[in-house]
Amino acid sequence: MTTNKKNKNKTRRSFIHQASGAMGAVAVVSAGWPLVDQMNPSKDVEALSKVEIDLAEIAEGKSKTVMWRGKPLFIKHRTDAEIKEAQKVDVSNLPHPQKDEERVKNPKFLVLIGVCTHLGCVPASDKGEYRGWFCPCHGSHYDTSGRIRKGPAPTNLEIPPYEFTNENTILVG
Ligand code: FES
Repeated sequence: MTTNKKNKNKTRRSFIHQASGAMGAVAVVSAGWPLVDQMNPSKDVEALSKVEIDLAEIAEGKSKTVMWRGKPLFIKHRTDAEIKEAQKVDVSNLPHPQKDEERVKNPKFLVLIGVCTHLGCVPASDKGEYRGWFCPCHGSHYDTSGRIRKGPAPTNLEIPPYEFTNENTILVG
């Protein structure tokens, strides 16, 4: 075989290898796609992970508890006095310094995950030395912004991800 012929054969072989490699990759991706797609949460499951809350049902000064992803959510419709009290606190001395403005989207409504950040008990609303929440398990006191003020809990009550879908409705999740 001449050198010219050998080179031609080499080029043809490498083209065939490249083409079959590319086809193989396409086949793997197409075979894998239904599997990956199956692993995504269905619309039903996604809907269960979100909860819509009608704020108009909660009278001023009252709170409502709803379950979300197996945890209680506290939604408090705060009074003007509670809002003022939450806003006037000098946060530099708090165990977990957070301004009230950082914890609310609308100051009238505070949305919290109702799980004590110490060991996970459910605190009682409108209780404790700061008239927010009190966890009787080991004595953690939270204020009207859900911030830890006294007791063993290391951090403030957590704020879940949520958005206002209209003036009176929030969607949590
Ligand atoms: S679990 Fe709340 S104070 Fe310990």
